[in-house]
Formats: sequence, C-alpha cells, structure tokens
Amino acid sequence: MKKYYITTPIYYVNDVPHIGHSYTTLAADTLARYRRLLGDDVFFLTGTDEHGQKIQKAAKQIGLQPKQLADKVVENFKKLWERLDITNDFFVRTTDDYHEKCVQEAFEYIYKKGDIYKGEYEGWYCIPCESYYSEIEIGEDKTCPVCGRKLDLVKEESYFFRLSAYQDKLLDFYEKNPNFVIPQTRYNEIKSFVKMGLKDLSITRTSFDWGVPVPFDDKHVIYVWFDALLNYVSAIGCRKGDFDSIWPADVHFVGKDILRFHAVYWPAFLMALDLPLPKHVVAHGWWTVDGKKMSKSLGNVVDPNEMIEKYPRDAYRYFLLRNVPFGLDGDFSERELIERINSDLVNDFGNLLNRSLTMMEKYSAGRVKRPQAVSDETLRNLASETFEKVKKHLDVFRFDEALIDIFDFIKSANKYITVKEPWTLKKQGKEDELGEVLYMLYASLKFIAGIIRPFLPDAAAKMSQMLGIKGDEKIDYYLDFYNVDEAEVKRSGVLFKRIDQKEKEEKKEEKEKRISIDEFFNVQLKVAKVLEAEAVEKSKKLLKLKIDIGEEKPRTLVAGLKEFYKPEELVGRYIIVVANLKPAKLMGIESNGMLLAAKDGKNLALLTVEKPVKPGASIS
Ligand code: ME8
Ligand code: MG
Repeated sequence: MKKYYITTPIYYVNDVPHIGHSYTTLAADTLARYRRLLGDDVFFLTGTDEHGQKIQKAAKQIGLQPKQLADKVVENFKKLWERLDITNDFFVRTTDDYHEKCVQEAFEYIYKKGDIYKGEYEGWYCIPCESYYSEIEIGEDKTCPVCGRKLDLVKEESYFFRLSAYQDKLLDFYEKNPNFVIPQTRYNEIKSFVKMGLKDLSITRTSFDWGVPVPFDDKHVIYVWFDALLNYVSAIGCRKGDFDSIWPADVHFVGKDILRFHAVYWPAFLMALDLPLPKHVVAHGWWTVDGKKMSKSLGNVVDPNEMIEKYPRDAYRYFLLRNVPFGLDGDFSERELIERINSDLVNDFGNLLNRSLTMMEKYSAGRVKRPQAVSDETLRNLASETFEKVKKHLDVFRFDEALIDIFDFIKSANKYITVKEPWTLKKQGKEDELGEVLYMLYASLKFIAGIIRPFLPDAAAKMSQMLGIKGDEKIDYYLDFYNVDEAEVKRSGVLFKRIDQKEKEEKKEEKEKRISIDEFFNVQLKVAKVLEAEAVEKSKKLLKLKIDIGEEKPRTLVAGLKEFYKPEELVGRYIIVVANLKPAKLMGIESNGMLLAAKDGKNLALLTVEKPVKPGASIS
C-alpha cells in the first residue's frame, strides 16, 4: 500500500518559529492524525531550510558560521514541535549529507537531459525572499513586489533551468488536475501566472558559497529553492529504498507566500526528473496579530511556546484551525482565543462530557449497558452524517468547517440531554428508558473521542480514559454505536478550565507597561551639584536643596531625605535629577525637579556620578 505523504514547508533557520510556522505544521499534523484515524499508513515530513545568502548573512551578523547558526536554530523548531506533540515521521535538514547528495544528483540528471544549461544572469534579486523578479514585476522603484524591500542587481554567470520548455506541460497538467492547487482562487492565480509566459530560471549563484556546490563546477552553488524543494524527495530515499512506496506527495502544505515555488517550479523540476507530480498543493492564508503584520521591529511576533504555557496546547491548536477558514488570512488575538476556550471547549464540549458522566455515575453507578431495544436513533444517525460531512471538508482541507460540524454534533448531544431529561426518567423510575439515554450518550461521547482526536489529541486521550476506551482505534470503531456491550466510566478532572478574561488582560497590561526608547528619552535626566541643603521646618522627612544644573540660576528642590542624610553630608555632591518635571509645592515650597535614589525597604542611597562632571551634564 502506498503511504499517504504529507509535508510542511521546511522553515528557514534565520528566524525563531512563530504562530505562522506553527499554523502550517499544526494543520499538517491534524491531517496526518486524521488519515491515520481513517486507517492510512501516513508519512509526515517537516524540517529546516539551511542554505542560502539569507542564512549566511544572518550568521555573519552575529559572528557565527552558517552551520553553527543552523545547528542552534534548528533546536528551536525541534523543541517546539515536541511541545506541540507534532507527529512527524522524519525531520529533514538541507545540510544533511543525504540531502546534499540528492540535490547534486538531481542537478546532474537534468543537466544531462539538456534542461539545465550555462549562461549569464542579470536581474533583480530579493535576499529575504530568495527570489528573482522580472522588470515588469518590480516597477520603477526596484523594490520587491512581495515584501517591499530593496532588491539587489545581480549579474553573474549562472546555470539556468529551462522553465520555458515546461509552460505547456504545466498548463496541461493544471487542466487535468483542477484540485492540484487548493483553494480554487489560488489555482486560478497560478494558471494565469503560467499563461503569461515562463522565462528560464537562474538556479546557481557564484557570489556566495553557503549552499550545495554544482557537482562538476564548484564555483557555483545551487539556488536555495532548487535545493529546498528537493527535500521532499531526499527525505524519503531520493529514488531509492522506500521511495516508491511514499512518493508522490499527497499534500504539500504551504503558506500563500511560497505557492508559486510549489505549484510552478516544483512540478516543472519533477517533470524534468521524470518523477510523478504531487496530488495537492494546499496554500493557506496569512496571520496577522491584533490586526497588524507580525514583525520583529513592531515587537508583536507571537511565540507559540508562550501561548502553550498560558493555554492548553489543544486550545491553541483549536483556535488556529477553527477561527479562520483554511485558505484565508486570519488575525490572532488572545481575547478571541479565550472566548473560544470558554464557549466552545468549556461550555459545549467539556460540559457535555462532564454532565453525561456525572449522570452515569449518579444514576447507574458509572455503568452503561447496551439496551435490548433502541427507540431513538437520532444521535446515531447524526454521528454518521457528521462523519460524512467532516470527511468531505477534510478532502478539501477545510479544517474550520470540519470543526463546525463536530461541534454541531456536540451541541445536539447537549440538546438531547435537555430534551430527554434523564433526571425525570430517574424520578419516574423509568429505568429502561434511562438506560437507553445513558447508553446513547456514551456512544456519542465515544464517537466524539474518535472524530475529535486529530484536532484535540490531548482532550481525546483524556476523554477516552474516562470512557474506558482505547485511544487509538480506527474510525469504524467510533462510528459503531453498539459495539460496546457494557462499560464503566469514571470522571476525573475537567477537559478544559474556564479562563478569566479580565485577569489575563490585567497581566497583559502589566507587561505592556514596558516603554519605548522614545518614552525613555522624554525624561530629561541631568547631573546636579548640591550647593546648599537645609531641613524643612516642621517636616519629618523633607530637606530643601539648592542645586546647580548648569542653568543661569540655581534651582530649589525638595526631597524626602531627612531620615537618611544630614544636610551637610549632601553639600558638594553630584546627584542625578529629573530636570523636566512640572514644579510641585511641598510644605509650601516650590520644588523644581526630583532627585533619584535607590530604596530597599529601610535603606535609601542617592544616585550619584562616579566622578565629577559639569553640572547640567545630561544622562544618556
Ligand atoms: O519560505 N502566517 O521558509 P520560511 C501564516 N524555507 N503562515 C506563515 C506566516 C504567517 N504570518 N509566516 C510564516 C520558507 N508562515 C522556505 C520554504 S519549502 C521547500 C521552503 C509559514 O521560514 C507559512 O507556511 O519563510 C510560510 O509558507 C512558511 O511559514 C514560510 O517559512
Ligand atoms: Mg519567509
């Protein structure tokens, strides 16, 4: 049997993983778990992209060799995938030997065939995107049409891939495989891009050396994208070993930013390699944070590690997959995440399990038994309908729609309880009817524990344990409402805890009290020399100082120093004051400024300068 092969992009190692990366990987993981639930033998691949000018530059900036940087950053990805319980079967790194060898073999294969040739390249290159752009795309200002940054003019000897020769073959392939690119709008975009005409693609560079060398011409390194895309082939044996039982890929998950590479260049490379093409390239949309683009300079990059410290990882996963129609752009907000937890996961899902088990424990000592006859099969029918719908949605990778249908079933089960009123049946002594209701609830929970497993693996495992069922059965087991003769259930804890929105927001605000550098410089700090000092009459705490801060006249300043310093101790010292405070009256004396001191409980120590400087010197 051919394995079901799922991939994520391999992420660049010049950056730490953020929600965007985790989104693609979580979607891929969800599909992998779902296909396993269906009974497929799955191969799930992720990894890192470690060559190229961008990585070389990033390493240089922090004084590392590129490989050292890669070795460091790759751990961030690996650790995060572990924390998120990602079930990948392999982790590919483009600096691994088997990969580099595979890239060289592929290069030679196409070269021998005549679809790679040597020439000279002149054009505009974007280092952050590792991509060339044509004159038409970049317009007058020579900035990148994708990320908007400045482009480099590159002129050098280069090997080219004869992409132009594949235009018709690609168009023909798209026509015959209308589901090759999902969603449809992206499929149309790709088709019209290729229809506009394809130029040959420069696939080697000589101006830097962090990459896989061309095997027969080692002053050239192979273009990162030719190198990177081949990970999908190198990781599974590069035509050897298990390769044929895994290739072609069933699904390449990508963000919309890198769709062109996967839906145009990659199939062309594969055609040149005489390899079958992947079944689907699925492009999702872009995440922003509180309405803004995520960026280091804005400081709003969301770290998934932080999120799963604050919230259950199932909830994080649920939010990402549920809140945005897969394929469209989405906005991340913690407030909405909390709302999802409280409404869907606590109120609907957790509550159903909790009240059902409570009734089973209360009314029948935690035991359920298959009834002799069944009078109402509503839930059973709804379960199989739900599964059919989920299947249809996941065939086109609509995780959000699948979740909506599963949660509709959960709502129906809650409603079933309200309608059947098991507590009334108990009171009326209708034991048979009560037994049926409890069994149907049990079977419904069993179904939910199965169908929700790809989406909420932790909750599904907990739930299975409470229901006394195995957590790793295939879908048929969960769909069959009557395959359990008798079971004993046991409530232990809750699936999800309600989150207090206000408390979280207060904590967030506290964190947000951090100020920008500009705010800091709004405070004018200056060195002042104490000219005179005397006690303020009738005050236990205050001293009145005359200070020189480099202005024409000395200033008066009142400070709470009496318990800590004698006036004569202060005269002649160089202290630090806030010079641009609004004047304030203390015990009738106008104070113009505030001096700085450190305080720890009972101690107070003046801030002074280490050696005399001119009064009025600014602090920076
Ligand atoms: O492009 N929203 O790596 P990369 C959603 N190495 N997804 C996002 C995102 C966001 N704001 N930011 C990143 C590369 N992603 C190449 C890939 S594959 C052969 C080589 C996700 O580290 C999304 O999947 O820049 C996007 O396509 C990918 O990270 C880009 O990761
Ligand atoms: Mg990128």
